[in-house]
Amino acid sequence: MNRLNILPSMLALAAAALSHTAALAESAASKALVDRGRYLVKIAGCNDCHTPGYMEKAGKVDEKLWLTGDALGWRGPWGTTYAINLRQYMSGLSEAQWLQRVQHMQARPPMPSFNLQAMSKQDQQAIYHFVRTLGPAGQPAPAWVPPDKTPPPPYVQFP
Ligand code: HEC
Repeated sequence: MNRLNILPSMLALAAAALSHTAALAESAASKALVDRGRYLVKIAGCNDCHTPGYMEKAGKVDEKLWLTGDALGWRGPWGTTYAINLRQYMSGLSEAQWLQRVQHMQARPPMPSFNLQAMSKQDQQAIYHFVRTLGPAGQPAPAWVPPDKTPPPPYVQFP
């Protein structure tokens, strides 16, 4: 066999090895992003309100149930709000749409939109990728109740 004949197959092998390395690097990068998202969701308190029973159980809630929304109402002059199901919410959004939503978010209390908006774009992306990795689960949280209507219990009453 002459040398020139084996050259194309050697090139193909080299190309395959390179693309494998690139894929490995990419999955390592996305794992780092997902881990960062898990960390942020924990320390930024998203679970405190968006995961049922999280505060009562001092955070000992299976990750499978994280961010599935809560039926505990938060009642004040803004009416009664419920921490939404973020697993369902994120599954309907692209990363770009999520970043847009965060920027223009005007959620009612006690949702701390300002904390989410104060995060770096990379941290906002990390939260998105973590929640997308968990996948959609659970039921939608109850709908907002206007201020002149009394919600069913349980709810937290603000002055
Ligand atoms: C103190 C409780 C609380 C904490 C902490 C909290 N949320 Fe919320 N969140 C809520 C409530 C209540 C709503 C519903 C607000 C409404 O109905 O206007 C909400 C709504 C949202 C929405 C929908 C907003 C919209 O208008 O589209 C997103 C997205 C969200 N939260 C993400 C997060 C993330 C991410 C974190 C962690 C950084 C977080 N929340 C922390 C209570 C909370």
